[in-house]
Amino acid sequence: MKLFITFEGIDGCGKTTQLHLLQDYLTRKGEKVTLIREPGGTKLSETIRQILLNSKESINYLTELFLFESARAELTEKVILPALNRNEIVLCDRFYDSTTAYQGYGRMIDISKIEVLNKLATNGLEPDITFYLRIPLEIAKERTKSKSLDRMESADIEFYKRVINGFDEIYEKEKHRIVKIDATNNIDSVHQSILVYIHNRLNI
Ligand code: TMP
Repeated sequence: MKLFITFEGIDGCGKTTQLHLLQDYLTRKGEKVTLIREPGGTKLSETIRQILLNSKESINYLTELFLFESARAELTEKVILPALNRNEIVLCDRFYDSTTAYQGYGRMIDISKIEVLNKLATNGLEPDITFYLRIPLEIAKERTKSKSLDRMESADIEFYKRVINGFDEIYEKEKHRIVKIDATNNIDSVHQSILVYIHNRLNI
């Protein structure tokens, strides 16, 4: 089945765990699934990821934006579009909503310019379904507190408040494709909420 599903939310929302659970479920149902993450998914995009997350040097906000979009352009052209053309389900850990939320709302770069770059990098490709796993900041911070934080995760509380507000606003504007899930619940009940939606919408 040709389908493009993305997962979004702030760091610590549990989306990577949920992506793997959904991949297992869909594979058991006989679907061919390609699972990838952003930034990443190709050799070059993983190299860009290393720079973005591990650089000890400060990165100018526009440079950061262009690096995320560069990684996305590579991934879209080399992995996502070919997999969709093979009629596979593509599950992507983040996509352009993250750029709107983090670089637009978080770093406060003009959203309308970001939208232009998002369209350019993806050649206009939109997810069919986006699961937005929403958790309050306090819970996210609690979940990530024992982890060593990367360059993005080390941003301050005010930045993260703006990112959450960003995801909430994107959801309000894009309800036709975004499904908001309360991700404060345990792993299994979040997974079940996702499956209910998948079952109702796709009958699988
Ligand atoms: P991950 O930890 O969920 O793999 O995501 C990598 C980090 O990069 C995370 O802190 C969110 C951030 N990010 C952006 O700031 N902009 C983007 O466009 C993407 C895809 C991720």
